[in-house]
Amino acid sequence: MTFDILTLFPDLCRSYFEGSILGKAVDRGLIEVRARFLRDWAEGRHLVTDDAPYGGGDGMVMKVEPVARALDDLRAERPGARVLLMTPQGRRFDQAMARRLAREPGLVFVCGRYEGIDERIRSLVDEEVSIGDVVLTGGELPAMLIIDAVARLLPGVLGSAGSLDDESFADGLLEYPQYTRPAEFRGMKVPEVLLSGDHGAIARWRRRQQLRRTLERRPELLDAAELDEDDRAWLTGLGRKD
Ligand SMILES: C[S@@+](CC[C@H](N)C(=O)[O-])C[C@H]1O[C@@H](n2cnc3c(N)ncnc32)[C@H](O)[C@@H]1O
Repeated sequence: MTFDILTLFPDLCRSYFEGSILGKAVDRGLIEVRARFLRDWAEGRHLVTDDAPYGGGDGMVMKVEPVARALDDLRAERPGARVLLMTPQGRRFDQAMARRLAREPGLVFVCGRYEGIDERIRSLVDEEVSIGDVVLTGGELPAMLIIDAVARLLPGVLGSAGSLDDESFADGLLEYPQYTRPAEFRGMKVPEVLLSGDHGAIARWRRRQQLRRTLERRPELLDAAELDEDDRAWLTGLGRKD
């Protein structure tokens, strides 16, 4: 899968994809990540990519023409890729969106900077995405966050380093607590059942911990999660009202 980040700060994006599991996925050809310098599509002697807002006001606004030219080229280079505009006004990114985006052949990220973008840029993209109700200085971190979440869903990227089935949101619930050695640390003991070797009991304990944790921290997730009778009974015992 290809990821192209259209940005005024390409160097910001590169190092993240050089190390760790994602770096290995790049080396193995499972993903390709390219930071594309927006200024390469600017024109004129000063290669201007931003200008003062019509109507006045603070800050600069990213111009539409360089972005339009860049997207014309990137769409030709990456047929079928979905173009995402990073904006705090977009649809909120979550694991379900990550799963949907992982089915695309490629993603192109348009990263804003400064006060924002010329409104007409919105008409050039397929979708507007926000990483949460917070305003950052640029779209590069949101783009990298989304690439990270999407890339790790692709076949082979995680290898044996992790299981996608067990983790938070995979089945609509938060993940159960995890422990590793030592069995006791500063008086805090690993739950006995995890040391028992009884796989059925461990699976039951984990499921119940998932339900408890989700009820305590993100109760709204339970409304959409698939729950069986045992799950419901356990939740009722914990005080959840249907
Ligand atoms: C300072 S922000 C502009 C915010 C804009 N003035 C507004 O109020 O909606 C500059 C750029 O950072 C990126 N950005 C900031 N917060 C973001 C978020 N929560 N999700 C995605 N992108 C974000 C966008 O690309 C945005 O164009």
